[in-house]
Amino acid sequence: MAVDIATFRQTMALFPGAVTLITTGSGDLRRGITATAVCSVTDSPPTLLVCVNRKTGTCAQILATGRFSVQLLTEEQADLAMAFAGAGGLTGLAKFDDASWGEGPTGLPQHLDALASISCKVASSTENGSHQVFFGQIEHVTAKEGEALIYAKSRFHRLAAVV
Ligand SMILES: Cc1cc2nc3c(=O)[nH]c(=O)nc-3n(C[C@H](O)[C@H](O)[C@H](O)COP(=O)(O)O)c2cc1C
Repeated sequence: MAVDIATFRQTMALFPGAVTLITTGSGDLRRGITATAVCSVTDSPPTLLVCVNRKTGTCAQILATGRFSVQLLTEEQADLAMAFAGAGGLTGLAKFDDASWGEGPTGLPQHLDALASISCKVASSTENGSHQVFFGQIEHVTAKEGEALIYAKSRFHRLAAVV
């Protein structure tokens, strides 16, 4: 027996998540979404997983190209997170209408101000309900100084150390 969707959502909202953009494609076929369903899998070989709604152009483009990039956002990038979640009706290529986008070594869209940009090649993927789970073998990483943006209880937060 499964719990209802509202209970699931309320419970998952209690889990703080690092906010990322999952980006893929190149040129006019660039696509991206805001995502917190990003998780380390193993260091042997270096692998992470992402869960992407199959209705998105991002999912279709990852399936077509076999590559994606994860942009870990900083605490200054909540507006960018909103934009890539579709705020104001933004969708598709229009989300990239910002001068701060460059290309990673494999041509994937990389945000120049992100805390980390992680380029991945899809090692395997599996359907689960509404989402596609992609396991990405990490090919390239860039990182800079700063603090990650956190999402919990339907709001964006900054990290604060307790000890
Ligand atoms: C904080 C936050 C986290 C999200 N995490 C995910 C996620 O992990 N996977 C996903 O498929 N969608 C996630 N979404 C929803 C997508 O960002 C949204 O459906 C997507 O941007 C729609 O894009 P499109 O209209 O261009 O297809 C999240 C949204 C927010 C605000």
